[in-house]
Amino acid sequence: MTNADFEKIVDTTNEWIISRTGIKERRICDEDMTGGDMAAEACRRALENSGTSPEEIDLLIIGTVTPDYRCPSEAVIVQEKVGLINAVAFDIVAACTGFINGLSLANSLIQSGQYKKALIVGSEKLSSITNYKDRGTCILFGDAAGAVVIGPDSNGNGVISTFMKSDGRLAKLLWQEVGGTRNPYTPENVNNGKDKLYMAGSDVFKVAVREMCNASLKVLEDAGLTADDLTLVVPHQANIRIIDALTKRLKVDKSKVYMNIEKYGNTSAASVPLALDQANHEGRLKPGDYVLMVAFGGGLIWGAALVRW
Ligand code: UT7
Repeated sequence: MTNADFEKIVDTTNEWIISRTGIKERRICDEDMTGGDMAAEACRRALENSGTSPEEIDLLIIGTVTPDYRCPSEAVIVQEKVGLINAVAFDIVAACTGFINGLSLANSLIQSGQYKKALIVGSEKLSSITNYKDRGTCILFGDAAGAVVIGPDSNGNGVISTFMKSDGRLAKLLWQEVGGTRNPYTPENVNNGKDKLYMAGSDVFKVAVREMCNASLKVLEDAGLTADDLTLVVPHQANIRIIDALTKRLKVDKSKVYMNIEKYGNTSAASVPLALDQANHEGRLKPGDYVLMVAFGGGLIWGAALVRW
């Protein structure tokens, strides 16, 4: 879906969207395709890329706020699709930070020895909860899924430090008011758009810049590293201006910061694994490289993970 498409449905311009967000296009999946379908495909490709069989996976964690069903979890739906017969599967509801939190949790469970091989997925069909009458949000969001496989490593590679934090006092800055038990779906609520995502954009923006920077510095400090040690930063692709501000505050060179927002927009939990996968396929990562992933989103929740590739 291009900016020109949005010019036809809301009062906006290509120039405004590019200058305020950096977005030119987003991918919108077919109506009959779900987040679970995209997640399953991402899992299959991650298994193939890592040379892992479905039977080896004993843990599947999916970050999503747009599951196929409210019950059971997206993860068990995907478990069945991919044939992860030896796994426990569950979801994390942490909006755009779902993948980072999933990675952090999976890493702890592997470090503890309780699990051996994990699939961590971020998957969102954001088009299903986007208010296409609200020009302040609809121009931002796209659909996507991304996945990684992790396991124990004796050479010091893998996830080396993580950080997770939230502030529930700010929950209503980015939320979907209707659809839960507090405010169930009614014809009136569906008509007034409260069943879709609402965001107080500029308020979220300020917290995002501050906390993505703090989370990044925290994982670097915990690992005894500085921003100079990083080969690549893979930030949540919410807004090019947020990424630019983060780049400046971390004092990393722009060339080290991966961006694909122009083509995909904001894909919530899928954003970081999607960008990581693309960076990897473009040959931007070599063994031993330090990669920083950092995300921020509804909750408000933020987090970071530092990985030795
Ligand atoms: O992924 C989860 C985390 N999400 C984020 O971190 C997103 C954070 N927020 C943002 O990225 C930005 O706040 C937005 C892109 C959502 C909005 O950009 P902004 O520069 O903060 O704009 P604003 O909301 O302060 O609005 C400025 C003006 C307003 O008009 P007035 O009141 O000044 O007349 C808006 O009505 O821009 C107007 N506006 C638009 N104009 C043209 C808002 N959306 C649009 C639009 N086209 N699509």
